[in-house]
Order: sequence, then C-alpha cells, then structure tokens
Amino acid sequence: MAKKKSKKTVKKAKIAARKPVRKTAKATKAVKRPAAAKKSNGLPKPSSKPFGLDGKALQGVRILDFTHVQSGPTCTQLLAWFGADVIKVERPGIGDITRGQLRDVPNADSLYFTMLNHNKRSITIDSKHPQGKRVLDELIKSCDVLVENFAPGALDRMGLTWDHIHKTNPRMIVASVKGFGPGPYEDCKVYENVAQCTGGSASTTGFRDGPPLVTGAQIGDSGTGLHLALGIVTALFQRTRTGRGQKVLCAMQDGVLNLARVKLRDQQRLKHGPLTEYSQYGEGIPFGDATPRAGNDSGGGQPGRILMCKGAPDDPNAYIYFITQAPVWEAICDVIGEPGWKTDPEYATPKARLPKLNQIFGRIEQWTMTKNKFEAMEILNKYDIPCGPILSMKELAEDQSLRKTGTVVEVEHPTRGKYLSVGNPIKLSDSVTEVKRSPLLGEHTDEILSDVLKLSAKTIAEIKASGALSAPEKKDKAA
Ligand code: COA
Repeated sequence: MAKKKSKKTVKKAKIAARKPVRKTAKATKAVKRPAAAKKSNGLPKPSSKPFGLDGKALQGVRILDFTHVQSGPTCTQLLAWFGADVIKVERPGIGDITRGQLRDVPNADSLYFTMLNHNKRSITIDSKHPQGKRVLDELIKSCDVLVENFAPGALDRMGLTWDHIHKTNPRMIVASVKGFGPGPYEDCKVYENVAQCTGGSASTTGFRDGPPLVTGAQIGDSGTGLHLALGIVTALFQRTRTGRGQKVLCAMQDGVLNLARVKLRDQQRLKHGPLTEYSQYGEGIPFGDATPRAGNDSGGGQPGRILMCKGAPDDPNAYIYFITQAPVWEAICDVIGEPGWKTDPEYATPKARLPKLNQIFGRIEQWTMTKNKFEAMEILNKYDIPCGPILSMKELAEDQSLRKTGTVVEVEHPTRGKYLSVGNPIKLSDSVTEVKRSPLLGEHTDEILSDVLKLSAKTIAEIKASGALSAPEKKDKAA
C-alpha cells in the first residue's frame, strides 16, 4: 500500500498487542500457542484494540481519482469512506462539471457534487500541460489505484495509456467505468438513462400497456460505481499475492444487466410456457417473445403488489407493498377477513391463486384502504407478513432511525451551510465511517504537492508559475 509502517512502528504495535494478554495465566497460555498464528496464512494476530478503534479497512491505500459526474465518484466516495486517501484531480477553474450543475445555492458547490465527493481531497492539475503531466506521473508513482470514468479514449489522449501507467508504476490498478464493453458501441458516451435502456432495465420496467420506463434509483451510474469498487478491492487483494496491478473495467450496460438478471431468467423461461406469476397470465393476455413489463408484480411463489392505503390516491405515497408469501397465507386470510380462503381449494395453494391475483389483491386492497400505510405495516408485521410502506423522500429525510445508523447524515459545508446526504450504506463493525464534507475546488493542491510528493516550496512555486495548476487567463475580448 502507499505508506508502509516503519519497522519500529510495527514492533511497537506488536509489543502493545501482546501487553494485555500477559497479565493472566489464561492469557499467557494463549501467547504460548504460536501454531495458531501460523495456521492463519501469515495473517497478523487478531488486534487487541476495541472494534472500530484499529484504523479503517482501506487505510494506507491511495487513490488517484480522475472521476467526474456520478458513476466514478460513487465508487471513490465508498473507498474514501472505507479509509482510502482519495486525491481527486480536477480541471483548473472548472473542476468536476457537477460542481455547478443543478445549483440550489448561488456560488456554492451543488448538492449533486457535495453528495458524491465526501472524504476526498481535491487538487487542480491541467493534465494536458507538460508540467501538469509531470506532476501526474509523480502521483501515479505514489498511488495504488487510478480510477476514471472519462469518455472512451480521453485518458489515452492525456498520454495516460495503460502501458505508460504500468511502466511508471507496475503496482498500479487502473479502474474505469465506460458505457459499453468492447463491441459495436464501445466508443459511445453514456449517461444513466442510456445505460438503463441498453442494459434491459427500461424494457422490463413499467406497465405492459405503457412505454418503457427508467427508474429513479441510479442503477446505471451509482450501480456501476458499486461494481467498480468491488473490482478495485478485489484487484488490491490479488495484488497482495502477485505484486502487480491490473485493469478493472465496468461497463454500465453490463452493470445494469447484472442487476436485471432475473429478467434474463424470465426471458429463457418464456420458451417453456407463460410466466404464471405475471398479472397478464391471470388476465389471459398471451406473452410475446421477450420478457414483458410487469408493473409492480413481484415474482415466484410470493406474488406482490402496490396497494392503496387510506389517503390514496390524493396522497401520491399512501400505498403499501404487500407480498402474499405462501407460509403466511393463512394469517393473510384472517387479517383481511377471508378465513374461508384458508381451506378453499380455489385459494389454498400458491398454484391455485396465480390465475386469480387481480381478484385476490383487489380484496386485500379493500382492507389496506381502511388503514394508513403505517397502521397497515404495524398490523401485518405482527403476523410476519412481508410488506413495506411507500416512503417519500421527505419521510426518509426525516426518519430518525436512518439518522441514528448514519444512513442519512447532516453535513456542514463552508459555503452552502448544512445539508443532508446519504451516508455509507455498507456498515463495517471494525471500520466505522465518518462522513466528511466534500473538498472545495483545489482545496488540497498545496498539501498534496508537499505532503504526498514531498516537493519543496520553491518547486511548488515553479509549477504554479508554469500555469499547470491554474485555469488559463481569459483573453481580453477587446484586444
Ligand atoms: N485537465 C485537462 N483536461 C481535462 C481534465 C484535466 N484535469 N479533466 C478532464 N479533461 C478533459 C478530457 O481530457 C476530455 O478532453 P478530450 O475530449 O479532448 O480528450 C474532456 O475533458 C472531456 O472529458 P469527457 O469524459 O469526454 O467529458 P464529457 O463531458 O464530454 O462526457 C460523459 C461526459 C459522462 C458522457 C463521458 O465522460 C462518459 O461517457 N464517461 C464514461 C461513462 C460514464 O461514466 N458515464 C456516466 C457518468 S455519471
């Protein structure tokens, strides 16, 4: 990893780790069993520090972050939350384009940017300036991973080809998000909804009699960023054995298709007959040759629907998702006041129910409409009936349990004030996430040049004077 502990520090840590166990006879016995340490494939002895107080999972990993917009920044934000030192390289004067997109507070970084770039440091470098290239080469030598999501070919055009990077630092992992993998579309630029459409999500989302739909969850951008983060930590793990870096590529189309995997499953099932858990089966509508849109149906032996609760449809979110899970069918019949359905052969088995889902959910909805979504949830949960209220973003923002777990966090920012963000959704018991505000453009330029690259004040001044770290002067129009 980027920073190695000195032998002295390691020795000290080892001594500290042993100290507490020497105190009791039982503990001494534990120390006398070196075989246990050998068995663990050369891993260090289990830390004696309390969980959460022995550093962060990716401590010591340094990331050269060339990402912008959403997919790449999602990935590097996660790595930063796990403790990696993420150095975001931005174009002087402009930075990540999202700093200025969908601005709600004048002259302050947008929520689009601040919510995707926590815990990172920012340095401005003109990657096309000769002096800027030299700085980048030095950073490549000092980092473990380069992450980028430029349009195809842009990194090469900067001179940062795989061959160049691998020669400069053979240990470096180069991780990229692109719209498509190798093939007919590999040169295309891609944004979220393009990926949803080309990855099989849009054709299978929405209602059968309506157009394809994109979803609000950013499965193309954030979803691919998540895939990339997994690729990176996996490559880092392999590097501990091979000593060398590798390329990690996540195409957004592939990421979306991976998340739409069950729809490719259904595509193949079509050859063997109708998809009996889809509403259209019960409605007697024949299937075509491709997986159709299934509205809000959920599949298998556990059919589900979104049903109206008290207040709907005036309140757009007064709905609940209700699953008629087979093992709790009898409880469902009792709750909705249809005890006869428990033994009636027309309703008693999942197979018998499949052609009648519209009628069954219609009856359940008569019951849910007598309760608000939270009352319905409370009653159904008593019987282990799987269900979930449709929560609005307002309700989620105000949810105190999400605040307690750090899934929703309030962050203080010097130019925009307080804002809400989604914290780290992945909770590690020994690597606790602290969400720190996103950096201002170029906020850490000097710090990175002196602390990471160990450049003298004189050299830093020379690089600055060359114009490699600042936006070119605007030409006087009158001249
Ligand atoms: N210094 C100098 N130039 C810089 C720079 C820096 N620090 N950082 C970026 N640039 C330049 C790039 O070199 C590129 O120049 P070039 O085209 O002359 O080679 C230019 O900025 C624009 O980069 P590009 O990635 O093409 O941005 P774009 O705004 O035109 O396209 C996307 C945006 C998202 C469509 C495109 O980057 C893309 O398809 N990315 C891959 C898929 C992806 O991640 N999409 C989801 C985004 S959430």
